[in-house]
This record gives sequence, C-alpha cells and structure tokens, in this order.
Amino acid sequence: MANDDNYPVESDRRRFVKGVVGGAALSGLLTVGAVSVTLTTTPSGGGGGTMDYRGAARELGPAPRGLPQIPIEIDDDGYVQGMWPEPETVEEGGVEFEVSQTEFEVDGETVTYSTEWFQYCGLQTFDGIRPDADQDAYLRYDEAVPTNDYPWMENISPGSQIHVDDFEDYEDWGNDVGDAGIGQPATATWRSQDVPPEQKIPVLLIRSEEIEAMAEEDEWIAQTCPEGFVAFINKCTHFCCVPGYKRLGESANYDAENKIYCNCHQSVYNPFNIIEERFVSLPRPEDD
Ligand code: FES
Repeated sequence: MANDDNYPVESDRRRFVKGVVGGAALSGLLTVGAVSVTLTTTPSGGGGGTMDYRGAARELGPAPRGLPQIPIEIDDDGYVQGMWPEPETVEEGGVEFEVSQTEFEVDGETVTYSTEWFQYCGLQTFDGIRPDADQDAYLRYDEAVPTNDYPWMENISPGSQIHVDDFEDYEDWGNDVGDAGIGQPATATWRSQDVPPEQKIPVLLIRSEEIEAMAEEDEWIAQTCPEGFVAFINKCTHFCCVPGYKRLGESANYDAENKIYCNCHQSVYNPFNIIEERFVSLPRPEDD
C-alpha cells in the first residue's frame, strides 16, 4: 500500500476558531485578543496540517517518523480508554469542521494533543476518526486475538472492553520473543464499533514497569500513561503495515525483540522512548 502520508501538498491557510476556550487549544501562532491561528497546512477538508505530536521513536528502518501515541485514561471502573477530547467547531478557508484537541502543561510549556495526530495512512477517512462520530473512546480487544503470540489473551473475549485487571501479570509477562518482564501487550481497536473490518483503527497497548518508571521523571508520560499503560496507533508510518511488539523472532536480528517491529521493511520503534516530532496531517474528507 502506498503511503500518502509522505507526500503532502502544502498551502497557506488561515484557521478561525469558534469559541475562545477552544481557540486557545489550537497549536500555532495565536493572535492576541482574537481566536485566529495561522498554520501551514494541507488542502481543504476536515482538519490536518502541520502537527507536533508525540510517539514511539523510530530507531531503525525506512519509517519516516515515530508511531503516534494515544494518551490513555482509565475510568472509575478500571476500563482503559484513549483520550478523545470534546469536539469543537473551527473554520478554515470558509469550511467549517470539527476538531478534538486539548492542552497539557509539560515542564512549563503547553503541549497540544489533537486527534489529527492520527490522520495518516488512510485513517483520515475512517468513520471513527471524525471528532463527532458516535463511537466511544474505550479500547476493545482485537477481534482477531493473536493467542499464538500472546497466550495470556486466550481467555479474553474478542471485542470486549479492556480492563486494568486483565494485565495483572504485567511485571513478569513474557513469551518466546525477547525478555520477560518488559511489558505485557494487547492488540486492540479504538472508536471502531459498528464499522466494517477495514475501518477498524488498530492499536497496540502495553502495560510496563518501564512506563511507570518514566512517569516519575517525565510530566508528559505521567499525564498520558496512567498505571503503566502506553498506547500507539498500530500503523507503520512507512507503508502502513501493522507492526508487532514481541511477535516475531526475526525481530532479534534488528535488536527489536523488546521493541515494536514492522516486518514489511524492518522498521523498529521504541515504545519506551516517547519523543516529539512534526508531520503533515492529512485532512479528513469534508464533514457532513
Ligand atoms: S517498514 Fe515499511 S511498512 Fe513498516
């Protein structure tokens, strides 16, 4: 599959936000006293443009950038969800559409999290990626549970919501790839209820003591990775294959047996090194 993420067409546009609070949440150059932001961005459609985002650092291979991180929240009953901020209406070039974004304070600076981080590799056309789509934000186990690689998932019900207690062995878990005790993984989907299989948003979720340790030193991790959970969109930023964490023995050939490995062209991502990067997010098709 070709990667249309790599070849954006850029143009200058001006973004106007309806609502002062929502406007402050946009990244870019905010003008004082008015809620307008100038961004270099992509052609018309719903959202997109130059984005600073956070993700698992690319360490090897042809992938152009890191795997986008999904900030995690855990509800009062212990169910795991990916953060999906309340949508707000913006206007660009005379076109109105919805965006979902919020701000974090990290080391005295503002970091804007936007669901536009995930608009690449065709995901921008998926139902669930629309900010105002009906789908909720809970993570659910993949319908095709990879029990050969992750035997611990044998007893879970495919499609069910993910609960913290399911990962009670995370401090010791291991399989026959790499080392035990690095992190317990699951494959999941997000905002993908009631959509055809080709529209499901793939997610890799890991609970790890490494993440817990990082959260003690890193304000971003502390706010987005509760109880040691870290999540990523599981689509390679190279040609959009689905990478795996501790799923293929050949990953050891690339020093990736404890990392995320894409066997299509041997790209390696480190889930325990979350960095900030920039890319050009693709616009969604026109909002209805
Ligand atoms: S390395 Fe090419 S698609 Fe992942």
